[in-house]
Amino acid sequence: MTAREPLLSLDGITRNFGAIEALRGITFEIGKGEVVALLGDNGAGKSTLVKIISGGLEPSGGRLVYEGREVRFGSPAEAKAAGIETVYQDLSLCTNVDVVANFFMGREIVKRFLGIPILQERAMEAATAKAIADAGTRIPSLRTNVEHLSGGQRQAIELNRFVHWGGKLVLLDEPFAALGVEQTRRGLEMIKRIAAQGISVVIITHIMAQAFQVADRMVVIRQGQVAGDVRTEDTTADEVVRMITGEAVKPPRAPIAEARTTGPA
Ligand SMILES: Nc1ncnc2c1ncn2[C@@H]1O[C@H](COP(=O)(O)OP(=O)(O)O)[C@@H](O)[C@H]1O
Ligand SMILES: [Mg+2]
Repeated sequence: MTAREPLLSLDGITRNFGAIEALRGITFEIGKGEVVALLGDNGAGKSTLVKIISGGLEPSGGRLVYEGREVRFGSPAEAKAAGIETVYQDLSLCTNVDVVANFFMGREIVKRFLGIPILQERAMEAATAKAIADAGTRIPSLRTNVEHLSGGQRQAIELNRFVHWGGKLVLLDEPFAALGVEQTRRGLEMIKRIAAQGISVVIITHIMAQAFQVADRMVVIRQGQVAGDVRTEDTTADEVVRMITGEAVKPPRAPIAEARTTGPA
């Protein structure tokens, strides 16, 4: 349970794939500016849950309450419009155009001159440069095509773009799987920086050290249920491993509806 004001509450989320019950009543909250590590064994239901939060899959049951209102995202575009986005390494950047074009993809600044739309390249470049500098990221040239940048630089561009356009909750599914040690370290630092700006982060990782480095809270999913919901400072790697394997359970709070009727959160 989070001590912060919740941004997103999951309340009894279920999801079936035919006869498979991938999620069996997931209830937890993501606070504003909080970094939540989602942990669990292969097949536990982590990716399914992330897809439901970001509009890629519809839940079979349960509710999502976002900024105090129940929401249903019919597509990733709807979730994105609400400020929720999954950042995949590479996948959402166009590698054959430069950093500025990627930053403004679909949001280009255009002015009409004698009725002809003209791209405001200088304004877009300046805005991109400012966003990237504010985030403390260094990219050799904003006019470099993305194909020439490293995986870590691409991830930085995606995260900075997300922040720049008013993102509120970013979901990262194994974001560092293809990155080296130094790039991973910078990625973890960047997550902390964006959380400090009030943005919420859900990160799936199977590397316990990463979770302990970056997360305020850990939510462990086991066989489609929440097996643990603990603050990082209140747990140990040992305990988290036991929650993942089912040897220990730290049951989360009661379902939200119940909790509301039994007293203040
Ligand atoms: N599209 C799908 N069709 C059928 N079963 C699926 C589908 N996606 C996930 N599953 C099943 O749901 C369960 C949870 O999968 P997943 O969310 O990918 O777990 P995790 O990301 O924790 O490894 C698994 O049993 C998996 O086989
Ligand atoms: Mg997965």
